[in-house]
Amino acid sequence: MSTQANGNQQINKEIWPLRNATGHLAIEISDASISRMAKRSEADTPLEKIEKLRALIRHHDYRYHVLDRPEISDRDYDLLFSELLATEQQFPDLISDDSPSQRVGGATLEEFSKIAHRQPMLSLQNSYSVEDIDAFEERARKELNNQAPEVFEFFCEPKFDGLAIELVYENGRLEKAITRGDGTVGEEVTSNVRTIPSVPLLLRDVNETGIPRLYEVRGEIVMLKADFQAINESQQEAGEMPFANPRNAAAGTIRQLDPKIAASRPLRLFVYAPGAIEGIKFKSQDEFEGKAKDLGLPIVGVAPANETFAQFEDRLTRQLSRADKGPLHRLGLARVSRGAEEAKQYYAFIQKVRAKLPFDIDGVVIKVNDFRLQEDLGFVARSPRWATAAKFPPEQAETVLERIEIQVGRTGALTPVGVMRPVKVGGVTITNATLHNQAEIDRKDVRVGDTVVIQRAGDVIPEIVRVVEAKRLKSSKPFLIPPFCPVCGAPSEKPDDEAVLRCVNLTCPAVLKGSLKHFVARRAMNIEGLGDKLIDTFVDAGFLKRPSDLYTLTTEKILSLERQGEKSAQNLVASIEASKQSTLARVIFALGIRHVGETTAKALASYFGSPDEFLGATEDRLIAVPDVGATMAVSISQALERGDVKAEFARLQELGVIIEESKKKATSGSLGGKKYVITGTLPMGRDEVKDLIEANGGFVLSSVSKKTDFLLAGEDAGSKVQKAADLGVAVIDWSVFQTQIAEAGD
Ligand code: IVH
Repeated sequence: MSTQANGNQQINKEIWPLRNATGHLAIEISDASISRMAKRSEADTPLEKIEKLRALIRHHDYRYHVLDRPEISDRDYDLLFSELLATEQQFPDLISDDSPSQRVGGATLEEFSKIAHRQPMLSLQNSYSVEDIDAFEERARKELNNQAPEVFEFFCEPKFDGLAIELVYENGRLEKAITRGDGTVGEEVTSNVRTIPSVPLLLRDVNETGIPRLYEVRGEIVMLKADFQAINESQQEAGEMPFANPRNAAAGTIRQLDPKIAASRPLRLFVYAPGAIEGIKFKSQDEFEGKAKDLGLPIVGVAPANETFAQFEDRLTRQLSRADKGPLHRLGLARVSRGAEEAKQYYAFIQKVRAKLPFDIDGVVIKVNDFRLQEDLGFVARSPRWATAAKFPPEQAETVLERIEIQVGRTGALTPVGVMRPVKVGGVTITNATLHNQAEIDRKDVRVGDTVVIQRAGDVIPEIVRVVEAKRLKSSKPFLIPPFCPVCGAPSEKPDDEAVLRCVNLTCPAVLKGSLKHFVARRAMNIEGLGDKLIDTFVDAGFLKRPSDLYTLTTEKILSLERQGEKSAQNLVASIEASKQSTLARVIFALGIRHVGETTAKALASYFGSPDEFLGATEDRLIAVPDVGATMAVSISQALERGDVKAEFARLQELGVIIEESKKKATSGSLGGKKYVITGTLPMGRDEVKDLIEANGGFVLSSVSKKTDFLLAGEDAGSKVQKAADLGVAVIDWSVFQTQIAEAGD
């Protein structure tokens, strides 16, 4: 958040402390004014103090998440938040559900309860071409008879490709969040939706026009493309299946029964439609969206009324071609168009810039702006006559599925991959598309030889959308993933809680090759000069049957193979030798236990200190380790019970690998086992900061949780700061961190 001057912002009486002594807005809240505020609160009762702090925090949340115009720095915000947390801790009876401190209090649920929508959540009629937009206008004109205006005002906005949600506010409080479900009955996912920072827990009354008694709004929960990519990288690092696209990631997150998972994933909300509302009326869609914004809800933003279409195009083209597209809600992507002509232009323009938007959309929604006309137009079947979804043709192509290959990952996961006759989709030649698992193959009934429609999902990963059944060969048969590993022939298994088949043969060459590639990686055992091809060669020659065999390689052995040079063989043996000086964290990471990434490996090493302590760990002890959740604890203890991890540890040591024990972190005199998360840009590289913390007895975790002690936030820190604040985790900057390091070194 950067501090920003803004002279004419309307101000609510709730946030009076923002006025300075002369009655002017105190825009720049300095340390001094923060402490002045605290002082001012001293005369207040604890409840008054807490209420004022909450009001201030809500105000700043609104500035940050809805207006994208923060008035104070992250640091100042965090100070306010810490003060609220401290005061609430002192007076726990005063903690209420709607406090900004209570976003992630929810317990894990058994299942979601079903709730009926007060008003059904309907769907939109789809149109697929510019002509369809004319036809839509024609129909509306006919229906309205002589009531139709000469020129329709059409409210045009993106059709978000996420998960539809209804938020129910009663007397200004968020009571429920319900998925669309079948349109009549949805699932209550309130505890997950509460974790989304841009969803207000309490409505605001910016214009002092009163809070509606009942205020239901509909919107879309999405994951930004950039966040999606980051999430998928960490899924893969942990040996988990990546999400197919941002929509799946958003929907999958909201369906998690543990709200902590939702809290750990960055989601956004965009509000676009009213539900049942009492106590407030709107004349039009743009008035509704303006009011939603005033009440504290995020919208995609409406282009200024006096902006011509050419100016709109111009502004957005410029804004979207910048790497930093600026505040999302200020993109002003929605626009009130005059007539079908402008609506068509809008459709064409948004289609053109679609790939540059920070989130996925699959079309535009065109709504008759005037609510009175909407009422007159009414509904047909389950969709309104006053709106149409003008969908974009997906970037698709037809091709022939030549074969389905089964790939074996290092975790043994057997993934069916469709290999197709090469075809261009959106400018990129595509040959391979993942079919994920058997269930997915069955659902789409994909068979070898089929003509299939493929598309690029989420702009990157190609996907088989469907089979063109009319072109199916008579001889085709349903495809079954063979019940054995294609590489080693061992029977495969399907663990109960998983969708994928796995090869569980620990000596399977494919699993072995994958494991070895991971084992030698820079952040693992760091064996230089041992590339993928060479590993394949060694495995195929029978030199390597498990990772520890690497330490039995000799120059002579290597030179007994064809095409191996003496010099490079010597270099390789030297770098294998050098890797023998290792650490517990590296060895744990290198052995590739499922779900154990580098960060977790370090946490395990720090916690247990020595190989023996780690190898003897039970599930209960594992859960106590910072950064280790229940799933991970089960996976690690299973791996330890299987015995192969133990055997590898022993053999590595026998073959001369020195596993430096991690000093168990003392609880005083150093960083004392404190758990840090790093975010933003710091004056030193990430890895260096990590090393510095660890050298001083701290841990570095990858994501903020209740177990985190400090979030070290650099420049341009992102959503982690909010999350830390939500969880009551202290946020420190570089200078505070340096003091801690200096003290630790004493
Ligand atoms: S307005 C009466 N506006 O489209 C329906 N819907 O087919 C009013 N959607 O499931 C809905 N973006 O999730 C509306 N800007 C937008 C939208 C939008 C996406 C989705 C919505 C719904 C589907 C309707």
